[in-house]
Amino acid sequence: MLGICSRMVKVGMAKPCGVVKPCYLVKPVSSSRMTGRYLSHQKGLPNLPVPPLQQTCERYITALEPIVEVDELTHTKELLADFQKPGGVGERLQRGLESRACNTENWLSEWWVQVAYLDYRLPVVVHSSPGLVLPRMEFSDKQGQIRFAAKLIAGVLDFKTMIDNETIPVEYLGGKPLCMNQYYEVLSSCRIPGVKRDAVVNHAKSSRRPQHITVVHNFQFFVLDVYNSDGTPLTADQLFVQLDRICSSSLQTNTEPVGILTTQHRDIWGKAYINLIKDRTNKESVSAIQRSIFTVCLDGPMPQVPTNAHRSRAAVQMLHGGGSPWNSGNRWFDKTLQFIIGEDGTCGANYEHAPAEGPPIVALIDHVVEYTRKPEMVPSAKVPLPMPMPKKLHFNITPELKKDIEEAKRSMNVLAEDLDVRVIVFNHFGKNVPKAHKMSPDAFIQVALQLAYYRMYQQCCATYESASLRMFRLGRTDTIRSASSASAAFVKAFDDPNKQNTEKVALMEKAVKAHKAYTNLAISGQAIDRHLLGLKMQAAEERISTPKVFKDTSYAKALHYRLSTSQVPSKTDCVMCFGPVVPDGYGVCYNPMNEHINFAVSSFNTCKETNTADLAHAVENALLDMRMLLEQTPRAKL
Ligand code: COA
Repeated sequence: MLGICSRMVKVGMAKPCGVVKPCYLVKPVSSSRMTGRYLSHQKGLPNLPVPPLQQTCERYITALEPIVEVDELTHTKELLADFQKPGGVGERLQRGLESRACNTENWLSEWWVQVAYLDYRLPVVVHSSPGLVLPRMEFSDKQGQIRFAAKLIAGVLDFKTMIDNETIPVEYLGGKPLCMNQYYEVLSSCRIPGVKRDAVVNHAKSSRRPQHITVVHNFQFFVLDVYNSDGTPLTADQLFVQLDRICSSSLQTNTEPVGILTTQHRDIWGKAYINLIKDRTNKESVSAIQRSIFTVCLDGPMPQVPTNAHRSRAAVQMLHGGGSPWNSGNRWFDKTLQFIIGEDGTCGANYEHAPAEGPPIVALIDHVVEYTRKPEMVPSAKVPLPMPMPKKLHFNITPELKKDIEEAKRSMNVLAEDLDVRVIVFNHFGKNVPKAHKMSPDAFIQVALQLAYYRMYQQCCATYESASLRMFRLGRTDTIRSASSASAAFVKAFDDPNKQNTEKVALMEKAVKAHKAYTNLAISGQAIDRHLLGLKMQAAEERISTPKVFKDTSYAKALHYRLSTSQVPSKTDCVMCFGPVVPDGYGVCYNPMNEHINFAVSSFNTCKETNTADLAHAVENALLDMRMLLEQTPRAKL
C-alpha cells in the first residue's frame, strides 16, 4: 500500500529525514503474555542482514540503467565513487548500520514503520490503507446483511482463538519459515493521529485484553461485547440478535459522521483530534473504538452500477466508502482492521497499513470466508446467557468540530472524485500458463506490466513490487525493481517488426529470469532499497548532513514509482486494491489464481497522462500477446 507494502518508499523520497528519535511504535509482541511456542519460533528466525556496501552501490547503478538518462547515470556513478571511497561517509554509515543490526532485533523495522507510515502525512484513505474486495455474497437485504455480519464476526473470533493460543500454522516462503509477528499486531490495535507523527497502540498486549468490537451503522458507533460472561465467544446467533438491536436503534441517518475525520490529511486530523478528545464523553468514545478488537461497518447503499462494474464499485467502497454522501463517514479509518458489509452482498475490508502487510490480513480473511460458508449450526439447547444491550458511543459536537467534519467531508469528496479504480478479472489464464512454460507466474505478470506500460508511454518507469522480508525476525518488505535492463530490452523488441520471434522469446525468458533473480535476492535481504534508506536514516541518526547520493536526481527518479504494484495471493477469489503512490502513477494489485488473475488498477483522474481503463486493457493485451508469442514460437530444449 502500498502500494504498498510498502510501496510506501514514496515517503523515503517525499520527505528529507529529520533527526530520528527512538520510537516505541509497533513493537514486537510483549513476551510476558506469550507462551513458548510463538517465542521459540521467533527466536529461531535469522536477523535481517545488512548487505555489503559495494554490492548495493553496484546493484543501484544497474537498477538505474533503464530509468535515468545517460548523463544522470554518469553523475550518480561519480557520487557513488565518492560515497564508497575508503574512509568515506559510506563506510562510516555502513559501520553504524552494522552496529545497529547487532543491537536490535531488526535494524530496519522500527525505522520503516516510522518513515513509511507514521511520518507519512497524506490521508491514510487511498494513499496508504488498502481495501480488499471479497466475492459478492448471496444476500440483498438488511436481514441478510446482519446474518452475514454475525457469521463473519464469529469467523474472526475463531481466528482470534488461534492467535490467542498461538496455534496459527507457521507460514513458509521458498521452503523457509516466516516471521509470524504481524498476526499479533492486527487485532485490538489502532493508529492514533498526531500533529507531526502518528503512533500505533496495540491493546492486545495490555493485561486487560479487549473483549469488544465496534460496530458502525448510519454513522453511529456501538460497543458490542463479543464474549459471554463465561469467556466463550458469542455464537453467530447471539451476534445476530445483538446486531439487530444495533440496527434498530440507529435508524436515523442525520447523525454527524464523526468517523469522516479519520479521512483527513494527518496533520489536520491530528489537530482536530486534540479538539475532539478535550470533551470527556468524546474521549471515552474514541478510546472504546481504539481499544476494540476490530470494527464492523454495516454500510448503507452505494450508487447503482451495471453488474459488470460491481467489483469496481466494491473496490471504491472498500478503499474510501464513496464519499460523504455514501459511506465514507461509516468508518474509523485509523482502526487497523475494518470489515465492511454492504446491503447488497458487497463485502470486504479496509486495513490501516502500519502494523502489517496484506498477506496476514488475507490469511485471516480466507479463514473467515471459509467459516461463513460452513452450514448454519443448530442453535444449542442450552439457555443462552443474557446479553447486555450494545452500548452506543456518544459524541458532543461543538461548532469547531462541526467545522472540522465539514472540511473533512469536502476533502474526502475531492479525493473520491479523483480516484479511478477498476477491478478486472483476466480469465484467459492464470498461473497455469507461465508454469507450463517453466516461468515464474509473478515474474511473467510483472514483465507483462512492463510491456503494457511501455506500449502506452514508449518508456520504462521506476516500478515497485513488494517483496516479503518475513524470512527474518520482524521483517516487513523490500522493493523488487521490476524495470530492469532485461525487461527494457524485451519490451523494446516486442513490437519491433525487424525482430524474429525466437529472439523475442529469448528476451522474454531473460526478463522473466532477471525478475525472479531480483525477487530471490530481495526476499533474502540483499535488495538495495531498504539498505539505501537505512544508510540515509543512519546519517540522520548520526546528525551528519544527508549524503549527496540521496539528493541526486537519479535517486528521486528511482523513488518516483509510476507503477506501484503488489501481488497479494489468496485462497478466496478476492482482490486487494490501493491507490497510486505518485500523482502521475498507477496502483496495481493482483491475485494470480490457477486459471485466472484478479487485478485492481487505480490512477487519479486529475492526471491527464494516466488512464486506469487504458492500463488495464494494455495489461490484458500484454498477457495475451506474451502467451501467443510463446505458443507460436518453438523453443530450444531447456
Ligand atoms: N516453473 C514452474 N513453476 C514455477 C516457476 C517456474 N520457473 N517459478 C515459480 N513457479 C511456481 C512456484 O513454485 C509457485 O507454485 P505454487 O503455485 O504451487 O505455490 C508459483 O509458481 C508461484 O511462484 P512465483 O510466481 O514465482 O511467485 P512467488 O509465490 O514466489 O511470489 C512474491 C513472489 C514476490 C510475490 C513473494 O516472494 C513475496 O514476496 N510475497 C509477499 C508480497 C507482499 O508482501 N505483498 C503485500 C503487499 S501489502
